[in-house]
Order: sequence, then C-alpha cells, then structure tokens
Amino acid sequence: MNDSPPPLSRPSPASLPSSSSGIIVLTTVPSESDADRIATILVAERLCGCVSVVSPVRSTYRWEGTVTTEPELQLEIKTTRAALPSVRRRLIEIHPYELPAIIAVPAEYGAAFGRWVEGEVAPYPHDVPVCRPSVAILASGRGSNALSLIEHQHHEGYRVAAVISDNAEAPIITAARAQGIHTVAHPRTASGTTHRCQERIADTLRDIAPDIVALAGFMQILKPWFVDMFAGRLINIHPSLLPKHPGLDTHRRALEAGDTEHGATVHLVDRGVDTGPIIAQVSIPCVSSDTPEELAARVLAHEHRLFPWVIGAIARKEIQAEDNRIVISAEARQGGAALGFLLPE
Ligand code: GRF
Repeated sequence: MNDSPPPLSRPSPASLPSSSSGIIVLTTVPSESDADRIATILVAERLCGCVSVVSPVRSTYRWEGTVTTEPELQLEIKTTRAALPSVRRRLIEIHPYELPAIIAVPAEYGAAFGRWVEGEVAPYPHDVPVCRPSVAILASGRGSNALSLIEHQHHEGYRVAAVISDNAEAPIITAARAQGIHTVAHPRTASGTTHRCQERIADTLRDIAPDIVALAGFMQILKPWFVDMFAGRLINIHPSLLPKHPGLDTHRRALEAGDTEHGATVHLVDRGVDTGPIIAQVSIPCVSSDTPEELAARVLAHEHRLFPWVIGAIARKEIQAEDNRIVISAEARQGGAALGFLLPE
C-alpha cells in the first residue's frame, strides 16, 4: 500500500507564463545630472519601474551641418506598453535636448520582474502632475500670457508641457526655460516658409500630444490644415472685445473708434483670423486720456487673469468645445461671473 501523501496540486511549469512583455525606452542625455533628474522624475511619477544609466556611450551625428562626436549617457527605462505614450510625452518635456532620440524596444521580462514593473507603473495616481490635462503654448515674443499660464498651472489643474516658438530669440524661450519648462524653437526664418515652420511645430505637437494648444501671442496666421489637425483644442487670446477689432493694433483702433469699453477675448480658433467661437471675455472702461500703450497695459493685466482661468475650466471640462460650439457648465458660469468675466449665453 502506498501511504505517502498525495502530491501537492500545482500547475505544471509549462502552464505558467514564464515571461511578460514590456517595453524598454532608450534615450541619451549629455550629463549625469540630467540622467539622475530624468530617472527620478520617471520613477517618482510611476511612469516606469526602473531606470538604469549606462555610461559612457559615444554618439556621432550631424547637427547644424557639422558632424560631431560627443560622450553621452544612455538611459534604459523599463516600463509597460500601456505607459509608453505617457513616458514619451513626459520625456520630451523634461529632456535637455531639443530633438531627443526616444526609442521604444519591445522586451520580454521574466514573469516576476514583469509583474513588479506593472505594479510600479499602474494605476496612475490621479494627483500626480503627469495625469493633469496638458497644455502646449505657442508664443512668438515677450510671452507675458505664456508666463501667466505657467504660473497658474497648479492652481487651475493643468500642466504646461512645452512652450513652442517660431522665434529663437523670443524672450519667452529664456523665461520659460528658467521655469523648468520644455521649450522648442522652430524659427520662421530657418524654416524657409511659414508652411514649413508650421509643419515643424505640428510635428513637435504630435510628439507632445497636448490636450490643449494655447496661442499666447503667436504671431502667425495658422494654415487651414494646421487648424484642422488640432481642431477643438486650439485656444487663442486676443486683445479686443471680439468681434470688434480683429487683427493687429487693437488698442489704437479702439481709441480711434471712440469705444468706451475695450478688453480681451479668449476664443476657439477656426480657419478665420480671430473669428472662432468666443469662450470668455473681460471688459474694462476706456479713459479719455488713454494712450494706446496705457490701455494695452490695463487690458494685459486682465488677460493674465482670464487666460489661465479659461484654460483651467477647459482642463476641468467645465467648458467644452463640441462641434465648434462652446458648452459652458453652471460651475464655470458661476466661477467666471465671480471673477467678472463675460461668458456667451
Ligand atoms: C497679447 O496682448 C495677446 O492678447 C495677443 O498678443 C499679446 C501677446 O503678449 N495675442 P504677450 O507676449 O503674452 O506678453
């Protein structure tokens, strides 16, 4: 008689998954401090399980017409397939290079390691900044509205992913960079044509995949194909009470027309120039002694309140664009009225 205990019931090794598929994202950076900063952000924001830094590597490439060989460090970012779009977006925002190589390689992890990576990465906690709706800002010059959008991002519940300019000398590029914001310049002059410049900006936007594109003093008329590509997501601020005074030089024109009220409008962008559906406005009285500069300065102070509030309300889905129509919730009406903003019926 066989009195030995029955064998423990356990699945045969062949029926257990022996591996799990994941993704390793490779990128190169110029310094150890960049490598450590990026690794810490990606792990802290639960975008990957682990980042390994491989050092040193040497990379040879042509940049601005010159073949260069530089020492670099390579980051191996161990993540999941589901997290790849977020990793890519975040890397572009925090990477020191204007054109980083971000290469995703399919990987077979061991079962236990794969489960650990998945546990580290998901689910994303909703309070981490990377989960907030993202905003890419297009600006050509001084950028005081862009800076106001950056300043109010935490309070209003969105995240500025990048500032993109068509002017490499624009003061906003230096100012945004000083705030730790990813900046990209696609100069109109270096691009050859406005069409080519906007193609380059569109490529950058496709990589960043922002929820909202905010035009904050972007001095180009967008091509119809560009407007269509980002339809429903393009929001502009204009310094007049539209439909009055579309185009340039609005403050002088308001004074010459004898307007008693002047102000600013935030609107959805359509194919026309300053013609898209109005989202919100702010109105201030004109003073008879006003110069265009004095009036502009007073309007600008209100633009800095209006634009972040509108972008925040869109991020919170309290204001939505549906088929080129603006739908405003009761919360947004109440919040906007309390701040003195005018919202369309
Ligand atoms: C602002 O008045 C804005 O309304 C208009 O261009 C101006 C840009 O100023 N579209 P800044 O660069 O944001 O300081």
